[in-house]
Amino acid sequence: MNQYTRNPPLDAESLDPDPMRELERWIDAAREAGMLEPTAMTLATAGADGIPAARIVLFKGLHENCPTFYTNYASRKGRMLSENPHAALVFWWDQMERQVRIEGRVEKLPREISEAYFASRPRESQLSAAVSRQSRPVASRTELDARMDEAAERIGDGAIPCPEQWGGYRLLPARVEFWQGRHGRAHDRLLYEQANSGWRILRLEP
Ligand SMILES: Cc1cc2nc3c(=O)[nH]c(=O)nc-3n(C[C@H](O)[C@H](O)[C@H](O)COP(=O)(O)O)c2cc1C
Repeated sequence: MNQYTRNPPLDAESLDPDPMRELERWIDAAREAGMLEPTAMTLATAGADGIPAARIVLFKGLHENCPTFYTNYASRKGRMLSENPHAALVFWWDQMERQVRIEGRVEKLPREISEAYFASRPRESQLSAAVSRQSRPVASRTELDARMDEAAERIGDGAIPCPEQWGGYRLLPARVEFWQGRHGRAHDRLLYEQANSGWRILRLEP
């Protein structure tokens, strides 16, 4: 049984008053520890029927102090978010014995932000975003590869524009919890809740 002994005690005084700055500190620590995907986070959504679904996406920095990710707006998650914008994000860094949970409402990023980010991506990723109909059934891998080859030939060396159905979201954090493992299952849980114009930090039982 893992005893969770890596972390020194965590208390409200040692946390940044801004939970998004604290989040960036935790991501940096996971990156410095050599974790393979320190920005991977689970995104949970529920559509109009209220049935949840979750998948991993990559954290792509903060926009106006809100965490962002990029995807296909016509994907299953995109359809769920258009029906119900409430979502949750969860980071888990096993080497750090740390978890962060963020809940709030999601909004699409302004078009120019998505386009600028798309333009910064490797050409191969741009091409696959341009041809992907994410979350739809496809007959075979061969069909996908053929579509990629056809697009690569058609576009040649030309610029690949950001597809209409592709872009980013930001999640406006309403509730942010920092969890770290401690010995004897006496884990630390510190919750940021919105209070007046700022945040108040509460400790939760493990
Ligand atoms: C490490 C990792 C990173 C991923 N990053 C993204 C991402 O940033 N955006 C994305 O749309 N899908 C990403 N995916 C794929 C998603 O988990 C998922 O398969 C896809 O978005 C389709 O989900 P949906 O059908 O619920 O819309 C990633 C998967 C893994 C394992």
